[in-house]
Amino acid sequence: MSAGKNILLIISGGIAAYKVLEVIRRLRDREINIRAILTKGGEQFVTPLSVAALTENKVYQDLFSLTDEAEMGHIRLSREADLVLVAPASADILAKMATGQAGDLATTALLATNKPVMIAPAMNVEMWNHPATQANIATLESHGVIRVGPSAGDLACGETGSGRLAEPAEIVASVLDFLEGQSATKPLAGKKAVVTSGPTHEPIDPVRYIANRSSGKQGHAIAQALANAGADVTLVSGPVTLPDPVGVTVVRVETARDMLAAVQNALPADIAVCAAAVADWRTADEAGQKLKKDGSGIIPDLKLAENPDILATISQSGASRPGLVIGFAAETEKVTEHARAKRARKGCDWILANDVAPDTGTFGGDLNEVFLISGDDAGADEHWSRQSKTGIAGALCARIIKHFS
Ligand code: CTP
Repeated sequence: MSAGKNILLIISGGIAAYKVLEVIRRLRDREINIRAILTKGGEQFVTPLSVAALTENKVYQDLFSLTDEAEMGHIRLSREADLVLVAPASADILAKMATGQAGDLATTALLATNKPVMIAPAMNVEMWNHPATQANIATLESHGVIRVGPSAGDLACGETGSGRLAEPAEIVASVLDFLEGQSATKPLAGKKAVVTSGPTHEPIDPVRYIANRSSGKQGHAIAQALANAGADVTLVSGPVTLPDPVGVTVVRVETARDMLAAVQNALPADIAVCAAAVADWRTADEAGQKLKKDGSGIIPDLKLAENPDILATISQSGASRPGLVIGFAAETEKVTEHARAKRARKGCDWILANDVAPDTGTFGGDLNEVFLISGDDAGADEHWSRQSKTGIAGALCARIIKHFS
């Protein structure tokens, strides 16, 4: 039940950091995804390379790294986890957390997160017993922070007492308890969804292709929203430059035919959302070698063939048809009228109609405005005003949750 969940692991400074490598391994064995932030102190005890190798992910270290911000900003890093785990949590990071400091990537992510936080403190016994640390722990617990350990025993500093990092098995058990309790309450837990996103590329020859301006932003945001709501999501994506949504199985494809095969492979599913801007045509005779200008001035005559319609195919797929099939209608005029006809023609349940006329900036942009058409009656259309594509994804997800409840 915890497979596919996401943890943001913050490794702060302390000799016990080496034990966290074992925690990572055990969580990865359970197919839990881990993104790690390594503090400057943490880096003294474990290397970024070992953390990256074990998490199978990039390790984040620098608040002001432009590359990291472009790929995955610190806000997103802190928001896309089901749980933020601080292990080992040093006296220093606990003090910073308790007083809301944000001087580096780890503390900024901790202050910015709206997700549950678990700490596994580790430090010298006197540091642990110090009234300042105890007051910080009391403050953090009053904020809802979950604590694992520390345990008592021999400490790395040679002293004995409370302050030992909880054993890896105990930390892993606490994480699993938490995640399993959490998934039971998510509204789409147990539901499987397949989402298509992005453009398709249809090759003309080995170096040229037919494509469109789709960015994949809307489809990727929908996949993320469904995963956040507890669904088991497969995202079939054409070529895009976006990062993968967290906690989602991503299948990358190029052509419409590959996209159809990947979608069919992901069935059965309860929900299908076709947000991809699939190329309607491909070249009928893809050239095996690069087409050359031969100097005669004769321009190659591209013959086109129609691509399979993925939305129509799965809407009409009989026994393997998902219970709820949702498509988009990209229109430049008579938006709801064309979309209603498209819904009937393709046989899907709902159509999200959007205006993609060039002056709207919808295609490839960050904003969208949608009419949800869920039946033949125009009076029942819902209008979702112009907002971020993430906002539209959230509205669709809420509507899907309502449909199943
Ligand atoms: N779609 C699909 N496979 C295709 C073409 C479209 O799955 N080969 C899906 C899109 O993902 C979208 C819906 O069908 O959910 C409508 O796409 P749209 O581009 O609006 O319509 P078309 O089917 O291409 O029709 P037209 O070009 O005539 O508007």
